[in-house]
Amino acid sequence: MNFSELIKQRQSNRSYQSKPVEQEKIEQCLEAARLAPSANNAQSWTFVVVDEPELKNRVGESVARLGMNQFVNQAPVLIAVVVEKPIFLTRLGSMVQNKDYPLIDIGIAVEHICLQAADLGLGSCIVGWFNENDIKKLLNIPRDKRLALIVALGYPKDVPREKRRKLREEVIHFNRY
Ligand SMILES: Cc1cc2nc3c(=O)[nH]c(=O)nc-3n(C[C@H](O)[C@H](O)[C@H](O)COP(=O)(O)O)c2cc1C
Repeated sequence: MNFSELIKQRQSNRSYQSKPVEQEKIEQCLEAARLAPSANNAQSWTFVVVDEPELKNRVGESVARLGMNQFVNQAPVLIAVVVEKPIFLTRLGSMVQNKDYPLIDIGIAVEHICLQAADLGLGSCIVGWFNENDIKKLLNIPRDKRLALIVALGYPKDVPREKRRKLREEVIHFNRY
């Protein structure tokens, strides 16, 4: 698959087979995340892989309890992404520029995971809607840290969909806004 095809192939999968994900493929997704760019190369992230079925189900049940994201339970692997305190330069930059660089960085790293997953024939879904405190407790994530996102990973059951996106003219301008 070439890169343009990969971009089109990746979609948010909300239905998964029970087939487990090979450890090697999980490692490849994590390596893709580890190699992602970040402001000042600060890499202010930790990836917590949840693959123990019982613990994973408890996380999935917690996510599902909020009503949406019931599908998270089906995914055989979840990757929780914790925001780490950035290095001084990034903190300073974030303050001066009024931009949350660590969160931007985590968005990029998470997309690396999803693209690598798609390349390996896996499905994924980025999940941002969950009871953060509840899941932090389940995963022993310190209370003073933020849990930014969870990525669901597994062999997808849902079929490829057409992408629903804004028109090119709405989102792309050349030279002037
Ligand atoms: C930061 C972020 C948070 C998201 N949170 C959720 C979520 O909680 N539940 C969900 O089903 N999808 C979630 N998504 C997936 C988006 O809904 C999805 O990317 C968007 O609808 C485009 O569809 P596609 O990924 O299939 O191309 C999230 C995506 C991002 C980038």
